Formats: sequence, C-alpha cells, structure tokens
Amino acid sequence: MQTNQVIKNIQVSGIRRFDEAISDVPDIIKLTVGEPDLPTPAHVKKAGIEAIRDDFSHYSPLMGFQELQQAASTYFHQKYALNYAPSEILATVGATEAVATALLTILNPGDGVLLPTPSYTSYEPVVEMAHGQVIPIDTTHSGYKLTPAILAAAINQHQADHLKAIILNYPANPTGVTYSQAELAALVTVIKQAGILVISDEIYSELTYEQPHTALATLYPERTITINGLSKSHAMTGWRMGFIMAPQALINEMKKTHQYLVTSTSSISQVAAIEALTNGFDDGPQMRAIYQQRRDYLVSRLSEIGINYLYPAGAFYVFAQVPADFHGTSWQFATELAHAAHVAVIPGSAFGATGEGWFRISYAASQTALRDSMNNLALWRAETMSK
Ligand SMILES: Cc1ncc(COP(=O)(O)O)c(C=O)c1O
Repeated sequence: MQTNQVIKNIQVSGIRRFDEAISDVPDIIKLTVGEPDLPTPAHVKKAGIEAIRDDFSHYSPLMGFQELQQAASTYFHQKYALNYAPSEILATVGATEAVATALLTILNPGDGVLLPTPSYTSYEPVVEMAHGQVIPIDTTHSGYKLTPAILAAAINQHQADHLKAIILNYPANPTGVTYSQAELAALVTVIKQAGILVISDEIYSELTYEQPHTALATLYPERTITINGLSKSHAMTGWRMGFIMAPQALINEMKKTHQYLVTSTSSISQVAAIEALTNGFDDGPQMRAIYQQRRDYLVSRLSEIGINYLYPAGAFYVFAQVPADFHGTSWQFATELAHAAHVAVIPGSAFGATGEGWFRISYAASQTALRDSMNNLALWRAETMSK
C-alpha cells in the first residue's frame, strides 16, 4: 500500500531507537531519555487526584481552561517578565504538540526554517510533515552556539528559500548550552532585519545554572512563538502539559490546528497544571539545585576519566566527545559502551549529522546511577586504553 511519502522517509527518533536497542542489556544503567527521575511534586499530584474525584472527565475549552490560561500568564510574567495575555496562551499536549501545532500553522509548502544544529530530534521531521524545508546551520565551529555573523550569513545565502522562521532552543538539548541576554539581543537584531518568526523552545528555562534565563519574547515580542511546559520544570512528562504563547493573531490560527489534532489536552492534567503554576513557583528551583549537584559530579568524573565535554550551562545533559582512540561512529561507540560497560547514552548522530563524534549523557538520573555509570565508564576506559 502506498502510504504518505514524507512519513515513509522519516524515522522514529534516534533517542527512542537507541534506547530500545539497548534495553535488553542486563544491568544496563540508562542515561538516555531526557526525563526527570524526580517525582511530580506532591501538591500537584494531589490536585490531579482531586480533579479525577471532582469529575474533570470532560473536554475542556479548545485553548484550555481559562483559569489555566490566567495562571500561565501570571506565572510566566513573574518568572521571565513575559507579557502574554491569557487569551494568547494555548494549552497543548506537551511541548511536543506545541512544536507541531506551531510549525503546521505557520508553514506553507516549501517555506524555509533555519535550524541551528545539532538539535532536538522533533523539529526536522515536523517541518517535513508540514512540507517545509529545514535549513540547518552548523554551530560546531562556534562553540555549539549561533552567532549573529553565522546567522546573517545563513540568511543571506538562503534569500531565495522563502525563509519563514528560525527555531531556537535554549537551554539546549542535546548540548546544554544557553544564551545570555546580550547574545540573544545581538541575534534578535539580525532576526528583526530578516523579519522572520522565531519558534523559541524554552522547555528547559528553569534549568539554567550559571545565569538567569532570558525569554526571547522579552526582546522580540511581535514575532516570537514561545514554547514552554511543565515536563521538565515540574517533573510532569507523563501529564503531557505544554504551552504555546504568541501574539493573538497567530494564536487564533494555531487554535484551529490544535483543535483538529487533539481537541484539547487532558482536563485532569490541566487542573494539576493550575496548581503547579499557582503554588509551585519554587518547585523548579528546588529540582534545579539537585540537577546542579549531579551536573557538577558528572563533569568532574568525566574530567578525571579524560572524556572531553561541552560545559553544560543548562538543561540536564552533558554533550561529550567520543574518545579519539575509538575508531567508529557515535552509534557504534554508544553500542559498545552499553554492552561492555552497561552504560546507556545517546549517540550524537541522533541529533543530526553535526552531532557525529559526540554522545549525550542525561543526568536526570539518580546519584547512584550516575556514580555507578561513571565507575563502569572509568573501568572500561582503563581496560580499553591498556590494550
Ligand atoms: C528541546 C525539547 N523540546 C520539547 C520536548 C518535548 O517536551 P514535552 O514532554 O513537553 O512534550 C523535549 C523533550 O525532551 C525537548 O528536549
């Protein structure tokens, strides 16, 4: 049967494919999927339980409950000085649906979307599903960050490609890098000249260790589509709660896409989200302190073992380099690491061609898992290097 050609050409993400491929390895310590091991805060769970008892078993309004839109508006204003009216906030099925709804709404066939790489795995397939074209921007020679000069060059080079938008993600998955306010302001100068939209995926905004997070929409409110959610900040991946925040005219268009994809996100999760946003202002910072300790531990062990890495300023990943004495791809390296040392990480190639030669370690894992995995890695390196 002839099914859709675009879907035929895309694959389940390398993160999930690799994770599944090594799941049968006995005693495997998984530092793969980017999901908090910490529990959802107790007060949020309680709100979810009460929502079930109170029969929140019906559809919500398409945009989400008004009380949720109001709570999100206040929360994101207090956290990041964002100025979205409640009506400019759409509740989505995680940031995943937010990315899809945003791209499916703004793109016409053939439109170009700039994407700094290596990048999170969902952007490219969704651009393709929307019949747009991804224009990758290699950041490997600029510390895995976009610079105004590199961005201006890419925009110049692709004048003829119907440039519609750029996707930014910071703190970034998989590299853990983030941008300062001054760096963002310099990028915005170039973006403004080009007049393109920005899809700013700030799902890791609570997890910055060196400097406070600057929301892009504080610098470029007129054309920024902000994506955020509760998966990482409140350890709520399974609740599937995300948000798109954008100027009213754009949100009104996205509401239609959202309706025909999902109708609305779970009513129960929305009630829990109202609690998280209203009374969980400090939940994120408490978790951040735990991740920061783990990050510091992990990078000091990697340094000891002699593995190079990018210094992670945010999110909960370390992007590390496949050792030079390993002759093979990042996929082969991660496979061997899984089988020989029982440590599972994600091959860098899962994040695009520019991720080759690297691997991603998630430290959203217990201190015991981190300690054991680093001990195993150290032993394995010592054994392989002495051969
Ligand atoms: C950069 C980025 N965006 C979006 C998502 C999806 O988040 P959600 O669980 O809210 O769908 C992830 C999850 O890992 C991510 O890393």
